[in-house]
Amino acid sequence: MLTIIGISGSLRKKSFNTAVLQAAVELFPERARLLVGSIAEIPLYDGDVETASGIPASVAALKDAIAEADGLLIVTPEYNNSIPGVLKNAIDWTTRPEPDIKRVYGGKPVALLGASPSGFGTILSQNAWLPVLKTLGTQLWTERRVLISRAHTLMDSDGKLTDVKARDQVRAFVDGFVSFVEKIGFKPD
Ligand code: FNR
Repeated sequence: MLTIIGISGSLRKKSFNTAVLQAAVELFPERARLLVGSIAEIPLYDGDVETASGIPASVAALKDAIAEADGLLIVTPEYNNSIPGVLKNAIDWTTRPEPDIKRVYGGKPVALLGASPSGFGTILSQNAWLPVLKTLGTQLWTERRVLISRAHTLMDSDGKLTDVKARDQVRAFVDGFVSFVEKIGFKPD
């Protein structure tokens, strides 16, 4: 079965972006599966640590999960009109050592979405990811956009995305992304 790995770029327990990822799991088309990866255990990148002891186990596990998946779904917050540091740090670690980039990211279908309490729904953060994803040699799917604005008004008190319109958007987005991966027939190494 086609497997996508999804990553939320927030560590917050009641993260809007993690709620969107959870909604994506619930709304994922039955013909595919969405596994949830985590950046919670990824340390800050330190070249000295890499030189002395190589890639930390948490990073190696995330790298392998991305490498083995047929596609990557990134749910990104926006910080100061750009990529949140915690998520960029995690992705940076997964690009080490450099010769592994092709195995982990080469030709990998990637889809980006995000949620924010502001009115702009992570548009600048999503745009900030473009040069990174290009550098890594991924295939970014751009047919649909999900920019979830006013995210705090779309959740219930448990932090679950309950707004019907937002859930419909997420459903259509993940269905479109899976169709794209099926159409191009990408297979991991
Ligand atoms: C933010 N936030 C924010 N939101 C936005 O739409 N554009 C922005 O530029 C910023 N900048 C920003 C900087 C920093 C340092 C923080 C901590 C926050 C607000 C942000 O969208 C909000 O905290 C979200 O709740 C973060 O996503 P999660 O944790 O809910 O997934």
